[in-house]
Amino acid sequence: METEIQLRNQIVQRLRDNQQQDENRLAFHLTPPLGLMNDPNGLVYYKGKYHVFFQWNPFDTKHTFKCWGHYSSTDFIHWEVHPPALVPSEWYEKDGCYSGSAIVYDNKLYLFYTGNVKTTDGGRETYQCLAVSDDGIHFEKKGPVIYLPEGFTPHFRDPKVWKQGNKWFMVIGAQTKELEGLITVFSSDDLINWQWLGPLAGNGVSLSKYFGYMWECPDFFALDGKDILIVSPQGLQAEPFKYENLYQSGYFIGVWDIKTNKYVHGTFKELDHGFDFYAPQTFEDPNGRRILLAWMGMGDEQEQTHQSIKSGWIHSLTIPRELTVKDGCLYQKPVEELRKLRNRASSETFSMANEEIDVLLDSELQEIIIEFEQFEGKKWEIHIQNNCKLIFNKIESIVTLERQNFNHSKWEKRQCKIDKINNIHMYLDRTSLEIFLNDGQIVFSSRFYGENAKKQCSISVEGNTKFSWQNWSLNSYQ
Ligand code: FRU
Repeated sequence: METEIQLRNQIVQRLRDNQQQDENRLAFHLTPPLGLMNDPNGLVYYKGKYHVFFQWNPFDTKHTFKCWGHYSSTDFIHWEVHPPALVPSEWYEKDGCYSGSAIVYDNKLYLFYTGNVKTTDGGRETYQCLAVSDDGIHFEKKGPVIYLPEGFTPHFRDPKVWKQGNKWFMVIGAQTKELEGLITVFSSDDLINWQWLGPLAGNGVSLSKYFGYMWECPDFFALDGKDILIVSPQGLQAEPFKYENLYQSGYFIGVWDIKTNKYVHGTFKELDHGFDFYAPQTFEDPNGRRILLAWMGMGDEQEQTHQSIKSGWIHSLTIPRELTVKDGCLYQKPVEELRKLRNRASSETFSMANEEIDVLLDSELQEIIIEFEQFEGKKWEIHIQNNCKLIFNKIESIVTLERQNFNHSKWEKRQCKIDKINNIHMYLDRTSLEIFLNDGQIVFSSRFYGENAKKQCSISVEGNTKFSWQNWSLNSYQ
C-alpha cells in the first residue's frame, strides 16, 4: 500500500501532466480536475467558505480508486480547487475513502467518512472514520469511530452527522443480513464515542414492504417544521413514471421522535426525474438555507460511453439548489447566487397557434425562463440542440424528457405525471441540462452530448399558447 505522500505526489503529477483541452467541459458546474467524480461529500460552510468535497478517482474514469477531492467557494460561482482532503493510506480505508459528511465544532472541521476495505476472499469490511482539520485544507485522521453492528452486512456506509439539542447524531446507510436497505442512527456527546440507537427507517421499521436491497447516502434534517430523510435506495423495480434509472434518490417527509427514535413518515418521492442524479446531500448555510447538491451521473451500463472520457474525465455535480417544503413535497430552486452568471439577456413574448419556431441561443451556456400565460391545446415540445426534448402532453398529463443516448444511436426517455406546467427554469451548461418545472416542484437533471446545431432551440405547439421567454447567456468562471 502506498503512503499518503506517495499517493498525493502521484495525483499532483497526473494533474500536471494533463494538458487536455476539452470543449465538453462544463463551465459553471463542478467537474473532476481529471478522472471520475461521483457523490458530493462533506458539504459545509467553514471559516467564511463553502466547502464541497467529492468522491474522486484521479487515476481513471472508472470506480476503482476513491479519495475525497475538494473545492471551496465564497459565492457558489468562483471555485478554488484544493489538494485531496483524504486519500486512502491506512489499513481501515485501504480500498477507498468513501462518502460522508462534515460538521464544524470548536472552530475545527470534522469529516466523517467510510473506510472501505476489500478482503482477500472477495468480501469487504467497513469502518466509519473521523478526520479533523484546523484550516479546512489539511486533515488529521483519527481512525474508525464506529464498527459494524450485529445484523448488517458490510454494506454499511456514508455517515451523515448533525447536532440536535446538545447531542450529535449520525445516520448511516445500511443493508440488513436479510439483504434489505435500512437507515440506522447513532448518537454521541463528544463526536468520538457513538451509541447505536437502532434503525430509523426501512422495511420492518417504518415501511411494511421490501424497498430495495441497500440504502446509500442518507441525509436527515429538519426543514419547515418537518423531519426529512433523503436516501438513495438501490434495487427498486421500475414502475410507470417511477424508478426508471438504475438507482434512485428521493425523500420521506415525517416526524421523528428523538426520545424514542421513532420516525413516522409519508411515501417515498423521487427528487429528480432526469437520467443523471444520485447521492444528493444537503447542508444548512449561514443564512439558514438548506442547500442540496447531487452527483449528476449514474453508474449504469451507459456510464463508460460518456464522450468526456476521451478527454480523461467523467461526471459532475448538479448546481446548488435551495430546498423548501410546499404542499407536502420538496421544492428545489437554483440558488440565487447563480444569477451572477448572467450575461447578455434577451426576452420576448410569444403567441403561437399550431406552429413551430426556432430560437437561436448565442452560446452553449444558458439560463432560460419560460412563463406560460396561457396554454390551450394538446401538447408542446421544446427541442434543445437536436439531442434533447422536453414534451408536455396535456391530454395525458405527462411530461417527458427525451435525449439521444451518448452514442446518438437511440432516443431514451424519462417521464413524470403532472397536470399543469406554469413555468420552466432551465440551466444549460454545454453537455448538461437541469430543468425546474413549476418553481422547482419537478426537476429533470441530465447529461447529453450534442452533435450539431449546438446553439439551436425550437418550440412547437399543438393548440394555442402564449408565454414569455427570457434567456441569458452565462459567464464561465472555471
Ligand atoms: C454512492 C456510493 C456510496 C459510497 C461511494 C463510493 O454513489 O456507492 O455509497 O460511499 O459511492 O464512491
